[in-house]
Amino acid sequence: MPCTVVVCGFFGDTGKGKVTSYLSLKDKAAVAARAGVGPNAGHTVVHEGNEYKLRMLPSAFVYDKCRLLIGPGVLVNPDLLLREIKLTQSRRRVGVDPQCAVIGPEHIEADKKGHLAKKIKTTGTGTGPCNAERALRTVKLAQDIPKLEAYLTDVPLEVNTAIDEGKNVLVEGTQGTYLSLFHGTYPYCTSKDVTASAACSDVGVGPTRVDEVILVFKAYTTRVGGGPLPNELAWEEAEKRGWAEIATVTGRKRRAAPFNYELAKRAVMLNGATQAAITKVDVMFPECEGVKSYEKLSRQAKNFVENVEQEIQVPVTLLGTGPDAWEIVDRREKQIS
Ligand code: IMP
Ligand code: MG
Repeated sequence: MPCTVVVCGFFGDTGKGKVTSYLSLKDKAAVAARAGVGPNAGHTVVHEGNEYKLRMLPSAFVYDKCRLLIGPGVLVNPDLLLREIKLTQSRRRVGVDPQCAVIGPEHIEADKKGHLAKKIKTTGTGTGPCNAERALRTVKLAQDIPKLEAYLTDVPLEVNTAIDEGKNVLVEGTQGTYLSLFHGTYPYCTSKDVTASAACSDVGVGPTRVDEVILVFKAYTTRVGGGPLPNELAWEEAEKRGWAEIATVTGRKRRAAPFNYELAKRAVMLNGATQAAITKVDVMFPECEGVKSYEKLSRQAKNFVENVEQEIQVPVTLLGTGPDAWEIVDRREKQIS
């Protein structure tokens, strides 16, 4: 820290929710700002025996002193946001930028038919049509919606002030590098860039203010919707390996493949990553379930991690060993400085 950006190096669903919730608790983040596209994301957080599936609020809500902001680049679904505020009892801590564009029923309807539904296989949450309308400069903003009035705040000002004061700030991206409109597998991608630079722009933080970019990978690769997935496994094989996952937002089956070193290397370049996280190490190596120190990982798991480091040339500082926010191996102190 102080300003850490968390983004995904594959196709989303690598565990940004888990990693950012852990970082908020461990580093006592003063401010967390949600970047990314909007409610097409589903970030899963497990804390104190409860599981939360968040689509709008920062995963840092688990740290109860953290201010929870949504940057102007992010699309807001007001009903979903209000529901999540209620669910997490975070009313006093939430701030939404007046310039966030707002998803309406017409965007959701357009996203559920035609080319977007049939060819791209989007999440159907209205984000693409809303961003299209934003580009046409006809979309409504959060400042036009009375039920959001109580939450409106200048998010870039709050985030930059916190950085000026030396506080810990988390910027939480969504989706993944290869779903980026610019760097992903066009046209099978989301409706804007989602790399670290875009995440900074979404919340109004300039590139010189960022200290760490943590790139999140999973021990294997998954993808939902259309588009290429190199070395894709049959669903039955994924099931056999324990890699068969169901998508958070859409309930669709996630397609699975082994860890992809080439994609990982390129993602490090595209995001300017300074560190990497690998989640679901316990799914690949069940003997590592719940392990919290590097020494206690199996030799096989260590070999895998060291191999990834060798290939991507940045330290792998965080290793997920279970769903709970605290089930993590944190090697940051040993690797940095
Ligand atoms: P859209 O972002 O809903 O327009 O969907 C475009 C593509 O990105 C589809 O293949 C979706 O399945 C995928 N996608 C969008 N958001 C996520 C996410 O948070 N995790 C995984 N895939 C996503
Ligand atoms: Mg997800």
